Amino acid sequence: MTDLVSQAPRLPKAGETIHGHKFFIGFGGKGANQCIQAARLGAKTAMVCKVGKDFFGDNYIQNFKDYGVNTDFVGQASDAATGAASIIVNDAGDNAIVIVAGANMLLGSEELHKALPAISHAKVLVCQLEISPQTSLQALRMAQENKVKTIFNPAPAIPDLDTDFYRASDVFCCNESEAELLTGSPVSNVEEAHRAGQELLKRGCGSVIITLGPQGCVVVEAQGSASRHVQTTSVKSVDTTGAGDSFIGALAFYMAHYPTMPLEEMACRANQVAGVSVQTVGTQTSYPLKKHLPAELF
Ligand code: RIB
Ligand code: NA
Repeated sequence: MTDLVSQAPRLPKAGETIHGHKFFIGFGGKGANQCIQAARLGAKTAMVCKVGKDFFGDNYIQNFKDYGVNTDFVGQASDAATGAASIIVNDAGDNAIVIVAGANMLLGSEELHKALPAISHAKVLVCQLEISPQTSLQALRMAQENKVKTIFNPAPAIPDLDTDFYRASDVFCCNESEAELLTGSPVSNVEEAHRAGQELLKRGCGSVIITLGPQGCVVVEAQGSASRHVQTTSVKSVDTTGAGDSFIGALAFYMAHYPTMPLEEMACRANQVAGVSVQTVGTQTSYPLKKHLPAELF
């Protein structure tokens, strides 16, 4: 997705026009953000996706190359535009987003089969829901069949998520609002997140992480004890857009590079990486590089 971002004092109501104070275009999209964060921490990454044969698509491919992401499996559709996200960020750093997935929706089995050599040799595969859900599910299954660890981020969430997604996820990672939509119960505090985590775990995933913004996250594992709350240090947030993606990208990096590290510890470190991202505007441009992070995170 190309992000079209307007910063305004607050989010507009339906039918209302308000003045914003800044506009910028950035590289976004959940999968790409996650991939770039992992790459910025030092992971070897490849992106499997589709953009349009247009200005945004050409620029996006160059962006991947600039970060050293393998683009062998980045296709360009001539019959759909590169995905776009209209984003409004208010002065509190909160956001509202509308995405038009465009070319993303044209990624299908044929492209996945071409990417099989890369998928089957990876340490970790990360999928989201900004492409067709069936394509995401197929990719997760391909990874599992090849003993590749899977992280699934059900975002943006859909209420009737196919239950096979849970079984195909080693780590099922979502935020409060996604957990709420998937469980049908409110998730606005740590207690409720513990409950939602247990409920999602029962559906068949290896573990569940529910991210809670400034409250850190809750980690629940099928093989393990009770669910645990992982706290985070408080920071001054300027723009939380893509903070969850920074978290997941970092998590993928830790799973690939420190496979024996306890999940709770990975989540704790990923919290700190994401905490850096909220302190600057934008998504990918705000994601920290390994060299800018404390050595104890590695
Ligand atoms: O998670 C943040 C991302 O969601 C943005 O970059 C936007 O592209 C949307 O996909
Ligand atoms: Na940011």
